[in-house]
Amino acid sequence: MILPTTMRALLQPTWNGPADMRPVTGVPVPAPGPHEVLIRVGAAGVNFADVMRAHGTYHGGPRPPYLAGFEAAGEIVAVGAAVTDLALGVHVVGTGDAAFAEYAVLPAAGVAPVPPGWTDEQALGLVLNWATALAALRPLGRLRAGETVLVHAAAGGVGQAAVRMARHYGATVIATASAAKRDAVPADHVLDHRTTDLAADVRRLTGGAGADLVLEAVGGTTFHASLAAARRVTGRVVVYGMPGGEAAVSNHELIFTHPVHVTGLHIGALAAHAPATFADLMTELAALRAAGVYPPGRPTVHPLADGPAVLADLAAGVTVGKLALRP
Ligand SMILES: NC(=O)c1ccc[n+]([C@@H]2O[C@H](COP(=O)([O-])OP(=O)(O)OC[C@H]3O[C@@H](n4cnc5c(N)ncnc54)[C@H](OP(=O)(O)O)[C@@H]3O)[C@@H](O)[C@H]2O)c1
Repeated sequence: MILPTTMRALLQPTWNGPADMRPVTGVPVPAPGPHEVLIRVGAAGVNFADVMRAHGTYHGGPRPPYLAGFEAAGEIVAVGAAVTDLALGVHVVGTGDAAFAEYAVLPAAGVAPVPPGWTDEQALGLVLNWATALAALRPLGRLRAGETVLVHAAAGGVGQAAVRMARHYGATVIATASAAKRDAVPADHVLDHRTTDLAADVRRLTGGAGADLVLEAVGGTTFHASLAAARRVTGRVVVYGMPGGEAAVSNHELIFTHPVHVTGLHIGALAAHAPATFADLMTELAALRAAGVYPPGRPTVHPLADGPAVLADLAAGVTVGKLALRP
């Protein structure tokens, strides 16, 4: 297969945020390392972590200048020497740096095949949004039928997946979303965490008990509301997002005011340190696809050059659902 030597991509030259991100041409097409594959990017996923990386607040993120993006789906056009289980022409979705580009290198061990009959862009979110939401609900959140789950940012990429699966697994779902996005959230109750006394509302909706599980994807002052909204003693709070900023809980609070289970989740760490659990998530997601619970994704797709504006909207909290860039 003859590949071009250069490509278009999005460059993040500073840690001043996505406003500084800009399209560049003439970028060398990368070559896969021994355990990597090179894909022709059909669509790249936009995630809140892209915003954090552009501000230098994503732990372990790249130092500028760097090529932005880290989630992509596309056709394999080259494989590393040690890759034996992936062939040219196969479409995969996965994560790897510099995904906002025409070609991207992904670690072979982390990719998943694009589900049969799905397009590249429909498969975005499989290893990030859906895996994160399912990890928060099941292996970490230990959700059981009949329980109540509070899902933050429920109109977002991860949130929509979480609401869908939580309902499928028999939970009552209390969601938070900005008022303008309520219609995008098919939950039992939708609250606006910016305008309500969240903990009081969740207690009112649960007969005073609190939520059995909280998917804490906001941080900042909402983090304490989430702790207060969880059912005492048996309630679980899975922490995986912090657009609202850092928040802390003390040992004093965990003993006296918030006696709940607080669990951190990073899907990359889970895949690296608990690969069997990650494999189980992928198996479960395949079953959810077969059952129609997990339909083909319908991201809002923008041209690659619009990346900076798309990230700005994501940072401002005005987007709905999964976002993607098409190179
Ligand atoms: N730990 C992991 O492994 C992992 C993996 C994937 C995603 N995540 C996290 O999961 C969350 C959702 O990710 P996503 O990519 O699907 O994004 P998203 O939910 O599509 O967008 C973020 C949403 O968060 C809400 N939000 C609340 N407070 C905000 C604030 N101060 N600034 C901006 N937005 C705020 C907004 O929705 P409303 O206005 O409707 O509240 C906004 O639309 C993010 O925090 C992300 O970092 C974590």
